[in-house]
Amino acid sequence: MAKIHILDEHIANQIAAGEVVERPASVVKELVENAIDAGSTKIEVTVEEGGLQSIRVTDNGSGIDPNDCTAAFYRHATSKIEHSRDLFHITTLGFRGEALPSIAAVAKVELVTSSGDEGLGHRVVIEGGKLIADETIAAPRGTDLIIRELFYNTPARLKYMKTIQTELGHISDFMYRMALSHPQIAFSLRHNSNSLLQTVGNGDLLQVIAAVYGTQAAKAMLPIQAENLDFQLHGYISRPEWTRSNRNGISTMVNGRYIRNFGVNQAIQRAYHTLLPINRFPLAVFDLRMHPSLVDVNVHPAKLEVRFSKEQELYPFVEQSIYQVLRQEVLIPQPVKQSIGGKGSSSFIQEQFHFSKNKNGNPLPEGSLPLLPSDTQANESAEMNVGSGTSSKTASVVDASAPPREYNQDSNVPSSIHGTSRSIHRLNLNLITRCGRREQRDMLCPRKRIEIFVQGSL
Ligand SMILES: Nc1ncnc2c1ncn2[C@@H]1O[C@H](COP(=O)(O)OP(=O)(O)O)[C@@H](O)[C@H]1O
Ligand SMILES: [Mg+2]
Repeated sequence: MAKIHILDEHIANQIAAGEVVERPASVVKELVENAIDAGSTKIEVTVEEGGLQSIRVTDNGSGIDPNDCTAAFYRHATSKIEHSRDLFHITTLGFRGEALPSIAAVAKVELVTSSGDEGLGHRVVIEGGKLIADETIAAPRGTDLIIRELFYNTPARLKYMKTIQTELGHISDFMYRMALSHPQIAFSLRHNSNSLLQTVGNGDLLQVIAAVYGTQAAKAMLPIQAENLDFQLHGYISRPEWTRSNRNGISTMVNGRYIRNFGVNQAIQRAYHTLLPINRFPLAVFDLRMHPSLVDVNVHPAKLEVRFSKEQELYPFVEQSIYQVLRQEVLIPQPVKQSIGGKGSSSFIQEQFHFSKNKNGNPLPEGSLPLLPSDTQANESAEMNVGSGTSSKTASVVDASAPPREYNQDSNVPSSIHGTSRSIHRLNLNLITRCGRREQRDMLCPRKRIEIFVQGSL
């Protein structure tokens, strides 16, 4: 065995870079997180050639003290924690002091920063871990970091980079999450001088959702707000008819940090339960707030995974909070029995359907497509069933625990419904024709969440 020796700082940084800097998007992530931790209200990201040629992140945050500019590039150099007990109360996005040295080990870095308002700043240039320039220059308050030629000295890593479009996809995906988790910050992302994202930073999450997913998606969102002794949750979830083919539309933030957590995703899906067609997923953007001691972010250098110390309580809380919001929206017709006529009259309205209003009587959001008929036709159909006493022809809505029924191939109308009264038939057609989009039809018909039973004369 050769003699044991402590590795040179540069090699140690290159080893750490293997975990911290996986691809250009990791660099963007680390630099943007630093800008957020510095209290910035405006963060501009400019990338060229998918970030492989250059990545520039400019912020208007606190800046770095001139005496700390080179120290920031040392391994485990951080201003965010001091004692080991701080590890259990992390309130910043970064704390490991690994990002800047790791990036500087595999790229050419230029830092210009100023921590005051006098216009005096500091410039540091590092290439492959070597200090090239360290000087005082004029600069506005904030930090401007330019990363050039990422992986220029690690050809094996460079070889495994995907196409520019793939790398750009990772960068924009990350920037969208950042914008969604920090609506109070104005973000911009430009690629080869094309603008890909621009948010205003006025704190309105719905506006950020519109900027990221489009205005139609924003209109389909329902606000969610809940809290118990341990957790607070606020954000938006989509109405069940607005679905996606994968879970990418679910953005879970914990204390402002975007995370990926299987348990939370499962809780969200359980809350939607049968409201979603098979293999469709909702759009959800929410921030979970909890005491920092309840969450351990020190699981992986990328800090995307976290551990919750009260996960047995957290998952039901998320599920219940979402379920409550969805429950308030009338997504399936509810039968309501109302008596009419004078005292002693045996007449009653057999049932009524309220389609397009939530329980508070508020109309659905403008532009949202009601899942079920909301127009007068539907009411007309329902109210045609005004009966007297024990009417022999009544319609009732039941849950779909009933055995499957056969559907007519052409119209998707249950075959048992053919030949029944026109009103019942029309109601059924209403249900089906309003399910114009494929997902809605899938949701409504094959799952038989709603069935119309025709009793009496059938
Ligand atoms: N944009 C920035 N604005 C102000 N300070 C910064 C910025 N980027 C980095 N720093 C300083 O450099 C230090 C090292 O950054 P980094 O290597 O990312 O470690 P960490 O973020 O884990 O502390 C940070 O603790 C912070 O003090
Ligand atoms: Mg950092």
